[in-house]
Order: sequence, then C-alpha cells, then structure tokens
Amino acid sequence: MQFRPTEDSEIDKWKEVTLVYSAAFKEVGTKLEILNDEFQHVHKYNPIEHIKSRLKTPESIVKKLKNRGYESTIENMVEYVNDIAGVRVICSFTSDIYSIAGIIASQSDLTVLSVKDYIRNPKPNGYMSYHMIVSVPVFLTNRVVDVKVEIQIRTVAMDFWASLEHKIAYKFEGNAPEHILLSLKQCAQMVNALDNEMMTLNNEIVRVSEERDKAGAGK
Ligand code: GTP
Ligand code: MG
Repeated sequence: MQFRPTEDSEIDKWKEVTLVYSAAFKEVGTKLEILNDEFQHVHKYNPIEHIKSRLKTPESIVKKLKNRGYESTIENMVEYVNDIAGVRVICSFTSDIYSIAGIIASQSDLTVLSVKDYIRNPKPNGYMSYHMIVSVPVFLTNRVVDVKVEIQIRTVAMDFWASLEHKIAYKFEGNAPEHILLSLKQCAQMVNALDNEMMTLNNEIVRVSEERDKAGAGK
C-alpha cells in the first residue's frame, strides 16, 4: 500500500514523512551495501565507490510543488515529489552503473516505477547519470507502506561534472553566460571520453592479469 501520512496535525504529519522516507533510503542504502559486499566476496571487486543518501529539504520540496503548480501540502508532497528520499550511487566505471541498475531491477522487494537513462541520452547541457524511481516497502509497527526513492547512479567523473554544473546553475540562476555553458558541455564530452578510456583500460588490466594467472597456474 502506497504511503499516506495518517497523523492529524501538520507537524506530526511532517515528522511521519521524515521518519518514513528516512527509513526508505536507509533500506535502499543498506541493500546496495550488501550487494556491494557480496560482489566483493564473489568477484573480488567493488562496483560501488560510495553511496550518499539524503532527504530533500522542505524548502526545495515546496519550490518543486510551486513550480509544478501544486499547493504546498504534505499530501501533494507525497503524491507528486518523487525524490523526497534520494540515494546517489557512485561507481568507478560506466559498466558498473548498468550492473547495479540490473541488480536493483531484479530485487523482488523493489519495484522500479521509472527509469531515465541520461548516459545513453545525455541532457542538452551535457548531464549524464542513470536515474531510477523505485518503490520500497517500509515495515512500521502496525503496517507496511510502499515508499518512493530516487536512485541516481553515475561514475565518479560524471558526479564531478554534475556538482560543478549544479554550482554554475545555482550561481547564475539559469542565466549563465554562453561561453561558460559551452565549456561545461565540452567538459561533459571529456568526462565521457575519460570514462570510456578508463573502462577500456580496466578491461585490459583484467584480461592481462587473468592471462598471467593462467600462465602461472600452468607452471
Ligand atoms: P526534477 O528535475 O527533480 O524536477 O525531476 P525530473 O522528473 O525532471 O527528473 P530528472 O530525472 O530529470 O532529475 C532528477 C534529479 O537529477 C534532479 O533533482 C537533480 O538532482 C538531478 N539532475 C537532473 N538534471 C540535472 C542537471 O542538468 N544537472 C545536475 N547537476 N543535476 C541534474
Ligand atoms: Mg529534471
């Protein structure tokens, strides 16, 4: 059952929202950490560099509702804002992103509600990242509720780019000079090229070391 706040007062409803959405991102974060540990155990390799989780601030929730023409109510928040709980997964290589996304999609207790692949289809400004909105069950004392969590999966280099872009967008409030936007877009292309080079290099490292292991075992 989709989560709906049940408390009477607005303050208590807000506390309930905070509690439930924090529980949801903890569930998803822990799940990803366990998968990463298992990956390490089986493949001797960690696809995840690190995970950052956050709850959207009330200010930015209100701003988002306003931009979309909705009244700022707690009910509208829960209904229309998909990223109250957000988990960002930072990987080393682009291939890791698709491994993680595939594993998430195959988890029987998570439901994928939507996917946006800004890696195969980067945004016009150059933004690259893989986004999923999932629904995760949260077990409360007297009920189980399904809660939406936004998962963003990207490489270290994509994350580096996104944080600079965010800073620029914030500083210039969407009115940045053309030459800065152009440089930023060129940086996105470099990020893409770097990610591809690093992935090729990593594949080569794996290939050569396996070959050496095999040769060593034959001696
Ligand atoms: P919002 O952008 O959140 O209103 O929702 P949406 O439905 O457009 O979702 P989308 O998947 O496009 O973006 C979700 C989130 O991804 C945003 O809240 C940001 O955190 C991040 N994001 C999307 N586009 C950009 C971008 O151009 N630059 C940066 N730095 N982050 C972005
Ligand atoms: Mg957007």
